[in-house]
Amino acid sequence: MNCWGPVAKRWGGRASGRIGTEPVLQNIQSEQFVEAAVHSEHYTKNKRCTPNTARRGVGILRDAEAQRNRGPIAERWGGREAAGGGRGPQSGRTRLGGGSAARPSGNTVELGLIWGHTPRHMAEETPTRRSPLTVAVHGGEPRSYPHDALTAPIVQTATYSFAETAELVAYFEGRKQREEYGRYGNPTVRLVEDKVAALEGTEAAAAFTSGMSAVTSAILGLVKAGSHVVLFADCYRRTRQFVTTLLERFGVTHTLVPPTDLAALEQALTPDTRLVVSELPTNPYQTVVDLERLGALCRARRVKTLIDSTFATPINLRPAEWGIDLIVHSATKYLAGHNDVLGGVLAGKRGLVSLVRELRDVVGGVLDPHAAYLIHRGMKTLPLRVAQQNATALRLAQALEQHPRISRVWYPGLESHPHHDVAKRLMDGFGGVVTFEVDADLDGTSAFIDGCKIPRIAPSLGGVESLIEQPALMSFFELTTEQREAVGIKDNLVRYAVGIEDADDLTRDILQAL
Ligand SMILES: Cc1ncc(COP(=O)(O)O)c(C=O)c1O
Repeated sequence: MNCWGPVAKRWGGRASGRIGTEPVLQNIQSEQFVEAAVHSEHYTKNKRCTPNTARRGVGILRDAEAQRNRGPIAERWGGREAAGGGRGPQSGRTRLGGGSAARPSGNTVELGLIWGHTPRHMAEETPTRRSPLTVAVHGGEPRSYPHDALTAPIVQTATYSFAETAELVAYFEGRKQREEYGRYGNPTVRLVEDKVAALEGTEAAAAFTSGMSAVTSAILGLVKAGSHVVLFADCYRRTRQFVTTLLERFGVTHTLVPPTDLAALEQALTPDTRLVVSELPTNPYQTVVDLERLGALCRARRVKTLIDSTFATPINLRPAEWGIDLIVHSATKYLAGHNDVLGGVLAGKRGLVSLVRELRDVVGGVLDPHAAYLIHRGMKTLPLRVAQQNATALRLAQALEQHPRISRVWYPGLESHPHHDVAKRLMDGFGGVVTFEVDADLDGTSAFIDGCKIPRIAPSLGGVESLIEQPALMSFFELTTEQREAVGIKDNLVRYAVGIEDADDLTRDILQAL
């Protein structure tokens, strides 16, 4: 007896290969398409030009149609409905998890214990509220996977086969939902995208091979020759480099404005400005721009906003709640959380995300399924890790602020931070990075770092291991002391990215090194 049953049955037959898909639009960068997507809330993908769509112009579908093409999560996996944290557009400010099947979680008390207060989105009574703890575990997932596997499968394939030509035609005509080719979509990668969208409370998300791939694709997707981009001057230096050197070569101009300076930003906007880019909090001084005012200001001028929320995580901040159009994460950091994988995710309204996704499908920076699996697994513990990192970082910042050998500490959770009040209004936690100046020169600061026994000396942040670095000798090694000071990086500056080790152990360790 064949206890495995017929092969097709065990694998769910042809039908089980059916996964929602967003086939590539061939003329994605056509002027009409980009203009429409950037300036309309309704434009969205999608689909490869068939004779019919070509006759109609470009292959743009409106949201409802694109949604239909994509299919619900459970349908894509051939399983049952998701138990928690479905994805989708939601109104109001309480959007974590949402979805029609959502129920009140009753987790407020436990969360309060973890966060030390009731997160803002939990304090509001709406029928769809659901704790980030639940969304992180179940959000964007079907209730069951093929073979009744509990955990997400790694769908390791470069391409997807069609049973017959009629299926292929049905797919290109948008009547059949499924994958086509690995660069255009992968079920494991879509799980990452759906979970990030659920956590951020956005309509859609797209995953990339790295954080920089997400950042550069998002910017490229929204600009054209002659466009103008505004950046806050303390943006991640590779983002700045991309805009100020690479984009400049292609006729995209830019203006750098002082960190958080909204008056300077408003002045910098021109009729050609397409995009304003910022981070929150920034590196290393953790400036916090008022997203509410930024969003309103840019909306009034029909300029799109892109926030790199890597340092904040969707646990501490959901920029879409403040009217931001696009959110980017280096998933390498907190989302994956284990310092073992590179990835990036872009989240936002479906139309804009689709536009950038299609650019990704051409440029090729798509996330690998194995990396997607690691990021997806990592996100299940994101709220627990971030809560621990928030608490430990605050504790370290407070201890350092009291210490005679520390001349200054920057942590948005400290009242002494210039943007503490804004951070308190926007954020549910202040993050896991503490920046400080040691009362020492370059070598003395290095000696302090070498004296710390728990954190490892490495770039990056957001993983389970604490990492420490002296920016002067890491990101700014090639500059002289004077050149570094000109860009605001002192020799005695230290960035400490806390992991999930015990807060007492980390505090004792840093104090003994001082
Ligand atoms: C704020 C921020 N954004 C983007 C990136 C780029 O991410 P990745 O290294 O995954 O490309 C980094 C990397 O350090 C970062 O710190």
